Amino acid sequence: MNFLALETSCDETAAAVFTDDLRVLSSVVASQTDLHARFGGVVPEIASRAHQRNLLPVVDEALARAGVALSDIGCVAVHNTPGLVGALLVGVSAAKALALGLGVPLVAVNHVASHIFACRLAAGRDIFPCVGLVVSGGHTALFRCDTALSRTLLGTTRDDAAGEAFDKVAAILGLGFPGGPAVEREAAAGNPKAFAFPRAFADDARLEFSFSGLKTAVLYACHGQNVAKASPPEPGQKRADLAASFQEAVVDAVALKCKQALRKTGLTRLAVGGGVSANRRLRQRLAEVCDREGAELIIPPMNLCTDNAAMAALAVEKWRAGEFAAADLDAEPNYL
Ligand code: KG4
Ligand code: ZN
Repeated sequence: MNFLALETSCDETAAAVFTDDLRVLSSVVASQTDLHARFGGVVPEIASRAHQRNLLPVVDEALARAGVALSDIGCVAVHNTPGLVGALLVGVSAAKALALGLGVPLVAVNHVASHIFACRLAAGRDIFPCVGLVVSGGHTALFRCDTALSRTLLGTTRDDAAGEAFDKVAAILGLGFPGGPAVEREAAAGNPKAFAFPRAFADDARLEFSFSGLKTAVLYACHGQNVAKASPPEPGQKRADLAASFQEAVVDAVALKCKQALRKTGLTRLAVGGGVSANRRLRQRLAEVCDREGAELIIPPMNLCTDNAAMAALAVEKWRAGEFAAADLDAEPNYL
């Protein structure tokens, strides 16, 4: 049985074809980074329009690469939550039309749950129960995942997501968009101890995150009190130190909360997803935490960490469980 899945929650237009035994036959991602770069972040209206332009060509490409005709698709899956509502609507509308036209079932999948399921795909075996960490531009959240379909939110961010903080600090430092890779490159030449930036909830058992105070601390450390008039700093040691100290503060906070989540749940597996998991310092620290806690760490390869439609193979589990979406399925921006 072949599934066709669509992803349009933010700024990647993606489609994938996979089978009911979780073989990914194709996964196509059209990135909109170039369209948003000059604005320093994702512009929702531009994202929706680009999804409309790109989605059907991306679906055609996914079918062609899989060597599968539309008439061979037995189920359509779509990420309908969470994300930018106008962006999600493009995928949801297309998925509904495809399912209706083909006369096949429609399955709605949660994008954040799919990020964790990407670890199941990468591992090639069952990974549940586990602690799930999603660190991306839109989310920083920890879950207790008892099965692929049953998860409990352990904690999330009170304000910015970790990736959003990377993007905003990159803008402060004049490093461009997307900020994560640029900050990581800059941090390589810096001293992570040069600035004592805050780690929110460090002395607290609550599994929560907060990165907006950290971002403001970087702003003031960079410009002093002249923030209103300041232009980005010149390249040099101070800029590298700011990047390295900021990155270390984010990584410290995420690593600490993962350790606490493993201890609190008693689980011995950590499954990580989302674009920030590309960060080498974060990977290294999470590996250290898991080593010390006697836990297994699963981080998928990059193409499964960042937004894609293959991770929506979680739909296979829903299909098996008979959890189908109705024709009035809606996009829901906020549901974790
Ligand atoms: O999962 P993703 O592709 O999209 C969503 O936000 O859902 O994640 C993108 C985020 C961006 O904020 C980007 O700056 C961040 O992941 N990112 C990184 C790195 N690569 C991407 N953050 C830190 N270090 C990186 N190497
Ligand atoms: Zn995502």
